[in-house]
Amino acid sequence: MKNKKIIVTGGAGTIGIELVRTLIKNKYEVTLLDLAEQINVSRNFIPQKVRIIEGSVLDKSILMKSISSHDVVVHLAASLGVKNTEENSYRCYQINVRGTENILDICLQKKIKKILFASSSEVYGEPDLNPIDENFPTKGKSCYAITKLMGESLVESYNKLDNNLKFVILRFFNTYGINQVAQFVLPRFIRAAQNNKNLIVNGDGNQLRSYCSAKDIAKGIMLSINNTKIDNQVVNLGNSDQKISINNLAKLVLSKIPSKSKVIYDKSFKQTDRKKSREVYNRLGNFSKAKEILNFEAKINLSKGLDDLIKNQIRENWPNL
Ligand SMILES: NC(=O)c1ccc[n+]([C@@H]2O[C@H](COP(=O)([O-])OP(=O)(O)OC[C@H]3O[C@@H](n4cnc5c(N)ncnc54)[C@H](O)[C@@H]3O)[C@@H](O)[C@H]2O)c1
Repeated sequence: MKNKKIIVTGGAGTIGIELVRTLIKNKYEVTLLDLAEQINVSRNFIPQKVRIIEGSVLDKSILMKSISSHDVVVHLAASLGVKNTEENSYRCYQINVRGTENILDICLQKKIKKILFASSSEVYGEPDLNPIDENFPTKGKSCYAITKLMGESLVESYNKLDNNLKFVILRFFNTYGINQVAQFVLPRFIRAAQNNKNLIVNGDGNQLRSYCSAKDIAKGIMLSINNTKIDNQVVNLGNSDQKISINNLAKLVLSKIPSKSKVIYDKSFKQTDRKKSREVYNRLGNFSKAKEILNFEAKINLSKGLDDLIKNQIRENWPNL
């Protein structure tokens, strides 16, 4: 294994936890950098062999000390969630853009070999057709999407400054996992059903998605670490087999949790966390590039993934960032 020493920013988050667990199982040396409060919430899920650093991607002195001596940086730390990023858009900009720039500065100074950047399917906005492949135009609608596009451009620019710093831009499609914040639809529905509260569906519920387990995403990230064919490219990661409308997602959750809850439709987006214009109606990914180059295929079906999620911890909110 060429690249063995990996640092994961945002490693105590939903995808980060699964990634550090997967890397440890596969004999990588792993350092996790995340905010102290987040590490505390996730501590039980973090394997003992992981070296933990508490700190922010906005603190360059911490980054300088922690990043050097690693082969690869997996940069997952970000501000996300519709409500969170719309209400705190400047914070979202600082963390997602300045934070990424800080990381890249240090990667350059410390001669890191490769950076994997967590981008998002949100950069595609509302696609003209589905499924979306990597060549589709990017027309992100939200502040979050724009910060992810800026992050992608920064990553590409730093590679132009020094082409010894290889990169992979990973565009994750809707992902769920343990310890996820209840601002995302799956944990939100589960939390509501567990508390006998109604499941509020934004709009008519016909929006189409395909959900992927963070465990599968973690495998895709690991496959990108030592695969040089994916260097300096953009790749979609997600699950194309679990197509479901939000309407049916709500029904699936209710079929698994004994509850008095009902599904309620907020047709005009009045009680929701987003304006109607912010909603992406249909989003399905094409993952054939990941299959071809990385031999990546998501394996966990939604029903099984949901069972796992129901048994596990869901968080109300992020710590104060
Ligand atoms: N979950 C999804 O559906 C999804 C989809 C597309 C892209 N992504 C991207 O994947 C990455 C991981 O997302 P996730 O689902 O695990 O979310 P998450 O919120 O669980 O994880 C993000 C982590 O970043 C950390 N973080 C935030 N600000 C920080 C700072 N200033 N310094 C250090 N750490 C900080 C948080 O504490 C958290 O642990 C993010 O970049 C996100 O934008 C996620």
